[in-house]
Amino acid sequence: MEALNGVRILDMTHVQAGPTCSQLLAWMGADVIKLEPPQGDATRGQLRDIPGADSLYFTMLNCNKRSITVNMKSAEGKEVFVDLLKTADIVMENFGPGVLDRLGFTWEKIHAINPRVVMGSIKGFGSTGPYAEFKAYENVAQAMGGAMSTTGTLDGAPYVTGAQIGDSGTGLHLAIGLLAALHQRDRTGIGQYVEVAMMDGVMNLCRVKWRDHQRLERQALAEYSVPTSMGMGDVPRAGNDSGGGQLGNAIHCKPHGPNDYIYVVVQEAVWNNLANLIGPTLGQPELASDPKFATISERRKNQQEMWALIAAFAANHTKREFMAILNPIDVPCGPIMSTTDLANDEHIRGREMYVELEDERRGKWWNVGMPIKLSASPAKLERAPFLGEHNDDVLKNVLGYDDAKVNAMKAAGAFTAAPKK
Ligand SMILES: CC(C)(COP(=O)(O)OP(=O)(O)OC[C@H]1O[C@@H](n2cnc3c(N)ncnc32)[C@H](O)[C@@H]1OP(=O)(O)O)[C@@H](O)C(=O)NCCC(=O)NCCS
Repeated sequence: MEALNGVRILDMTHVQAGPTCSQLLAWMGADVIKLEPPQGDATRGQLRDIPGADSLYFTMLNCNKRSITVNMKSAEGKEVFVDLLKTADIVMENFGPGVLDRLGFTWEKIHAINPRVVMGSIKGFGSTGPYAEFKAYENVAQAMGGAMSTTGTLDGAPYVTGAQIGDSGTGLHLAIGLLAALHQRDRTGIGQYVEVAMMDGVMNLCRVKWRDHQRLERQALAEYSVPTSMGMGDVPRAGNDSGGGQLGNAIHCKPHGPNDYIYVVVQEAVWNNLANLIGPTLGQPELASDPKFATISERRKNQQEMWALIAAFAANHTKREFMAILNPIDVPCGPIMSTTDLANDEHIRGREMYVELEDERRGKWWNVGMPIKLSASPAKLERAPFLGEHNDDVLKNVLGYDDAKVNAMKAAGAFTAAPKK
């Protein structure tokens, strides 16, 4: 049996931050009913690559869910929402600030309708404070949560990271909060409101930068490859520095294309072996005992020279060859994997992290798999629902409406957009 079997989620989330969370919970076995506006989650049509099919943006974030369209701006639509809410363990949303309140459903109202329900809410900046009224997307959260000012190089503009720490990262935070609140609900019988702000989630994921922010009040950051000094203030962007106690960098390899790099960590314990391996080839058989590199503090000071030596050795090897050379001497390292590398990677396929799915509109497509592996309830990925695919199913089998009621509600516009004036 799946871990969340029997847990029903009324999922009003859209775009990425919320759907990422509800998809994970669906993969853990929750019954996720995605309640969409009549025109659907906007991502269904965004960045569409096949005419008539939902975009990959939508399908990759909404697997294993049922879809029902409900016009929340009609009285009958609100009635359907309230009926569904009464059957739900979790209700979740990531609308812009105030949207749900304007629809008439504050947390207090939702709690009064179903005191057992746990409510999950994602906002760009939370419901309190000077930024509370602002909308947010991924890169806005990365900008305001400290990720961008600390990513990139000193001489260039701040960079966003390719990983969606603002959207998917926030979805992960929400999943943790929802499961904790559900656990508490099961003991107390009372649900609670779980809020995650994208800005807060990004800050949480930048925790080590806050370590360095405070260290700068007392010391220079010796491990940084860029100049730092006590009292300098902002944590600087430091390229591909490791960010931890050990030195690390991305090393360019043969044939020197944009992804022909390997990330190498010169862990303190491996320096001797590494120096003895590369030194002779570079004409420096005594490299391990060279005073410029003999201790970690010297290696920190002279790291640019050290990286140049490692890169000179790597220039004759591909990233995979260099990995095969470094692995036996226990140097922590990893080739920079392109999306093509990953899509064809045996390890990734074996771990079901790139999974083939199929639907009648899109044909075959691939989703990134479930990264959380539960031994007794492994995830089984199923395609994303078409818009409103489960209207009748949900209305009849979840809410117990009969045909007459369904038809009357349809006629009243509960599931369709109001006609344009
Ligand atoms: C992502 C975001 C910027 C998108 O903004 P947006 O497209 O303007 O969408 P909003 O959520 O603000 O508003 C949606 C509108 O659709 C309406 N709507 C939503 N579901 C509906 C339904 N089922 N029936 C009828 N109307 C519906 C809302 O009532 C709202 O209308 P209003 O402005 O008249 O009140 C915004 O939702 C947001 O800031 N969310 C919180 C942060 C977040 O999650 N961002 C990351 C997304 S990956």
